[in-house]
Amino acid sequence: MKSAQTVVLTSRLCKTYEAFEAKIEVLKDLDLEVKDGEFTVISGPSGSGKTTLLNMIGGIDKPTSGSIFVFDEDLATKDEDFLARFRCAKVGYVFQSYNLVSTLTVAENVAFPMEWLRKPEDQIKDQVHELLELVGLRQRSEHFPFQLSGGEQQRVALLEHLPTIRRYFLLMNQQATWTKRPAQRLRRSWIP
Ligand SMILES: Nc1ncnc2c1ncn2[C@@H]1O[C@H](COP(=O)(O)OP(=O)(O)O)[C@@H](O)[C@H]1O
Ligand SMILES: [Mg+2]
Repeated sequence: MKSAQTVVLTSRLCKTYEAFEAKIEVLKDLDLEVKDGEFTVISGPSGSGKTTLLNMIGGIDKPTSGSIFVFDEDLATKDEDFLARFRCAKVGYVFQSYNLVSTLTVAENVAFPMEWLRKPEDQIKDQVHELLELVGLRQRSEHFPFQLSGGEQQRVALLEHLPTIRRYFLLMNQQATWTKRPAQRLRRSWIP
């Protein structure tokens, strides 16, 4: 039985990749429950299935068998349209390789999910400005991702999710390289 505060619930979750007749059982009968407000770290050696699991929680990939509920939605049964909106509005997934849009500026990358959700233009502008200021990247707003360091790209990749994810549910598939001060500023004003 799910409790009201459960945000992620998997039951006997399995993921098997099939490649060239080889079966790679990555996740086998995984039961995981994450509750509202929890900070959870998934660690393990390279190749142990961390990204595979995060991709399923983030609605990017589907299980081979078993179930996965996120915010009470049975993700295995949902179509691409549902999952695209779900990813934009409810789950902020910061990818291992950041996945910024290379042809958009820093400010445009941060604005992108809000534009996709058709937020008012002046609100988008204000929030982009505020977020970039908070993490010390305002001077870089017209730059393109290739002009940023890895750590700066990581910050932009996180910022773009903060205004749109309603419940601040973040999946970060990476080792954080945040320095203390911008992280504290963000926590104070953007993360409950
Ligand atoms: N699309 C795929 N096809 C076949 N094997 C895959 C695929 N994606 C991942 N794998 C394999 O699944 C295992 C787990 O990968 P992954 O979840 O990326 O691990 P981690 O993030 O813990 O390093 C690895 O052995 C990887 O090679
Ligand atoms: Mg990985």
